[in-house]
Amino acid sequence: MPTHDDVDAFLTDTLIGSDPSLDAALAAQQDAGLPAIEVSPVSAKLLHLLVRISGARRVLEIGTLGGYSTIWLARAVPEGGRVVSIEAEERNAGIARDNLARAGVADRVEVRVGRGLDVLPTLVGEEPFDLVFVDADKESNTAYLDWAARLGRPGTVIVLDNVVRAGAVADPPTGDTKVEGARAGVVMLGEDPRFDATALQTLDRKGWDGLALAVLTDAVASRSPVS
Ligand code: DHB
Ligand code: MG
Repeated sequence: MPTHDDVDAFLTDTLIGSDPSLDAALAAQQDAGLPAIEVSPVSAKLLHLLVRISGARRVLEIGTLGGYSTIWLARAVPEGGRVVSIEAEERNAGIARDNLARAGVADRVEVRVGRGLDVLPTLVGEEPFDLVFVDADKESNTAYLDWAARLGRPGTVIVLDNVVRAGAVADPPTGDTKVEGARAGVVMLGEDPRFDATALQTLDRKGWDGLALAVLTDAVASRSPVS
């Protein structure tokens, strides 16, 4: 009887295959002792396809880690496109920059170092982002979604990682702040009129988790201008 790991391996081998730059990025991340919590290849490919399907030119990522998902996003933006990726840890950012350079996409990616909530306000006044991937400290999910809405425009695509957490999202509050952050993010996507959203459970090499997918509605256009 095949397991979900067998299926993940089949889907990954068949639809994605191996890629020297991505393999090198993961090896560098592992050698540096970073946690192996990057998105799975099938989810990374989903992000990549969402950028292409939506025609996104300006992509914002909150949570770079070693730059694995960042490479996938950068490869999806068209000529002249840009990925801004925010990373709290200087050391991770250095590893990510090396990985992005090795993958040949450093010219279109800017890794900004700092806590998300410190860096995000510095992006006000730039052109709106077309796609935002939120994958950082789960406790700040609602604040990050709020920033995504402020830095986007109607039609901006939002992806929020880790919304299922092995099912714990459906439990009553447990005191686990990551689970509470995951749940609060989903609740906000359901209640806040600026978002129209769904979520899918995922079962892959990282176990049982999920991704929320949202689009910004016209409600973001009627907000008072950010200053
Ligand atoms: C964790 C964070 C992630 O972004 C992820 O994909 C998996 C786990 C974590 O902090 O536990
Ligand atoms: Mg994640």
